[in-house]
Amino acid sequence: DITVSDCGQLVTHARSPALAHDSHKGIFGDVGVLGGQSASSDGQGMEGAAILAASAALHAGAGRVMLHLLGSHPASPRPTGVVADIMLRSLEAMRALRGSLVCGCGGGSQVVQVIPQALQHPGSLVLDADALNAIAAQPQLQQALVQRAATADNRGITVLTPHPLELARLLGTDTPAIQSDRIGAARQAAQQWQCLVVLKGSGTVVAAPNGRYAINHSGNARLAIGGTGDVLAGCIGAHLAALPPGSSWADGWQPLLNAVWLHGHAADTWPLGRMLTASRLAHSLHRPG
Ligand code: APR
Ligand code: MG
Repeated sequence: DITVSDCGQLVTHARSPALAHDSHKGIFGDVGVLGGQSASSDGQGMEGAAILAASAALHAGAGRVMLHLLGSHPASPRPTGVVADIMLRSLEAMRALRGSLVCGCGGGSQVVQVIPQALQHPGSLVLDADALNAIAAQPQLQQALVQRAATADNRGITVLTPHPLELARLLGTDTPAIQSDRIGAARQAAQQWQCLVVLKGSGTVVAAPNGRYAINHSGNARLAIGGTGDVLAGCIGAHLAALPPGSSWADGWQPLLNAVWLHGHAADTWPLGRMLTASRLAHSLHRPG
């Protein structure tokens, strides 16, 4: 049995209000994805990670999804796997995005150049993977992260989605130290960077700047394959997309827990005998309610 202390919360289900009959795509909010360094820049293509995040956002209920692949330019052909529902956008056009921004999936070394732009985003910001690694390596980006939280009135909330090694890099320690006190590590990071933190792995911990935390109960080892983290980042982006600029982390708390729970729940209800892959996981997400 899993128990949490008085300060914590066990995530067990996700509920959303029923959709109004006159709903339109604007009420669900837009999701932008910034990442997926292309192979031409260093021979190691990581477009797939950003495409998975965009696909997850689409299926998890975003009104519209926009994608900028790092190193691409307006004349770049539409990469295989980017379905027609996803709008390819230039880096400049991403500045006009309203809604949430997911930055870092498959970002490679180029992502560091776009983090200052991402930190100015006037909506929710989800930082994952190489965006977290770049921030861990650059103290001035860490200052900018805290600065963003201090000006949250006209920007938005920030969510960090590290796996244990990414959090170890951010906190200047090692993976065993993170794993020996996952709740403590997630809470420390949330307090230090004034962000919501999702420490992934079996028993994902979600922590807020004030010490509030939750342990997610859904998910299983079938998720231990490449790309499922990118799917989570996109899913979180979709759930935060409708939060207006100026929202506090408390406004984002329940939508964030819902996203984390639904991602794990999709793996828990996966049909026996069918291999779970990240792209199939993305396709299986849906807007609850
Ligand atoms: N039980 C429950 N959930 C799990 C388990 C488990 N045993 N193992 C993994 N998961 C979930 C995590 O909670 C998280 O949601 O699967 C997801 C894995 O996310 P990441 O660790 O970010 O993995 P991902 O990015 O998809 O792929 C690994 O990350 O560090 C980089 O370069 C590395 O390419 C690699 C990539
Ligand atoms: Mg990852």
